[in-house]
Amino acid sequence: MTRPLPDELLKVPHRRDVPFARLTTLGVGGLCRWLFEPTTELEAQAFVRACAREGLSWRVLGGGSNLVVLGDVEGPVLRLALPKVACREGRRFTAPASHGHIALAEAAAEAGLAGLEFASGIPGSLGGAIRMNAGAYGREWIDVLVRYRFLTPEGELVEKAPEPGEFTYRWSFLTGGRVVLSATAELADGNPATIRAKVAEYREKRGTSQPLSRRNAGCIFKNPPGQSAGRLIDQAGLKGLRVGDAEVSPEHANFLVNHGHATAAEFAELMDRVQAAVLERWGVALEAEVEIWRDDPGASLQGH
Ligand code: EPU
Repeated sequence: MTRPLPDELLKVPHRRDVPFARLTTLGVGGLCRWLFEPTTELEAQAFVRACAREGLSWRVLGGGSNLVVLGDVEGPVLRLALPKVACREGRRFTAPASHGHIALAEAAAEAGLAGLEFASGIPGSLGGAIRMNAGAYGREWIDVLVRYRFLTPEGELVEKAPEPGEFTYRWSFLTGGRVVLSATAELADGNPATIRAKVAEYREKRGTSQPLSRRNAGCIFKNPPGQSAGRLIDQAGLKGLRVGDAEVSPEHANFLVNHGHATAAEFAELMDRVQAAVLERWGVALEAEVEIWRDDPGASLQGH
C-alpha cells in the first residue's frame, strides 16, 4: 500500500533513500526512505504537527551512534539540522540538540567550565545524549542539566527544568514522539588545564578499554543492576564470537563491532546469541542499551 505525504511535510527539507550505513556509526541497516532535516525549530514543529495530523508514525535520529537499524525504514525519520552554535551565559551553557556531543564538551573545557568532562568521549548529538541521559565515569547528563526544550508528540514547544523521574540510568521520558530541541547545562568554574587533563585521562581510558578503531554503536547492553554486562559476556567466553562481519569485540565484550561489511541480520543474530549465552551461563537477561529499529511493515509513503 502506498500513502501520499501531505504538502506541509514536503515543505520541510528532506532527502530520499539515504543508506543507514552513512547515518550510523555502526554502519549497518537498509535505506532511510524519507529523511527530514529541519534547519529551524519552526520547521521541526511543522514536521511533528503534520505527522500528528496525518496519524503518521515517525522516528528521531540523532548522531546515529547508539543505534542499530535492522532493515529499511519506510516511515519519516527526523534528523534536526539546527545551526550548531553553543551559547554561554555565566556558568550556563546552552546548545541545540543537533550540536555534536564531544564538540560541546570540548567547547565547555575551552571556556574553563568544569562538569562536562564525562561527555568528552561519548559520540553522537547532544539531543541523543539528553534523550538517553548519556553518561560515563560515574557522571551523567542529569547531574548538570538545568533546562531543556522539546516538542511534544502534538508539536507543542515546551521549555522546562528537569523534574524527578524524568531521567534515570540511560533513560529519559523524552521518547515516544517527543523531540529534544536544546539543552542547558549548569557548570562550575574550573582551571582549563585541570579540565583538559581530566578529558585526556578519560580519552586514554576509553582508548585502552574500548574498540574505538572499529565501527561500533557503543555499549550494546545495559549494565544489569550491580553488575557489568561487559564482564558477564566476557566471562561467558564470548569475546571474539563472530557472525559474518559482526563480532563481540576482543577488547570490550559489551561492544559488538563491524569488521566492514556486517549486515543487519548478522548483528541481530549476534545480539541474540550473546543474550542467550549470558542467560544460560549467568541466568541474567541482558537488555539492549542501544536503540534498535526493526524494519516496519507499514505503508510506503509517496511524494509528488
Ligand atoms: N570488563 C570485563 N571484560 C570486558 C569489559 C569489561 O571484565 O570485556 C569489566 C572491567 O574490567 C570492569 C567492569 O567490567 O571491571 C566495567 O567495565 P568498564 O569500566 O569498561 O565499564 P562498563 O560498565 O562496561 C560503562 C558504560 C560505558 C562508559 C564506561 C566508562 C554502560 C552500559 N556502559 O561501561 O558507556 O563508557 O562505563 O564510564 O553503562 C555506552 O553507554 O555506550 C558506553 C560505552
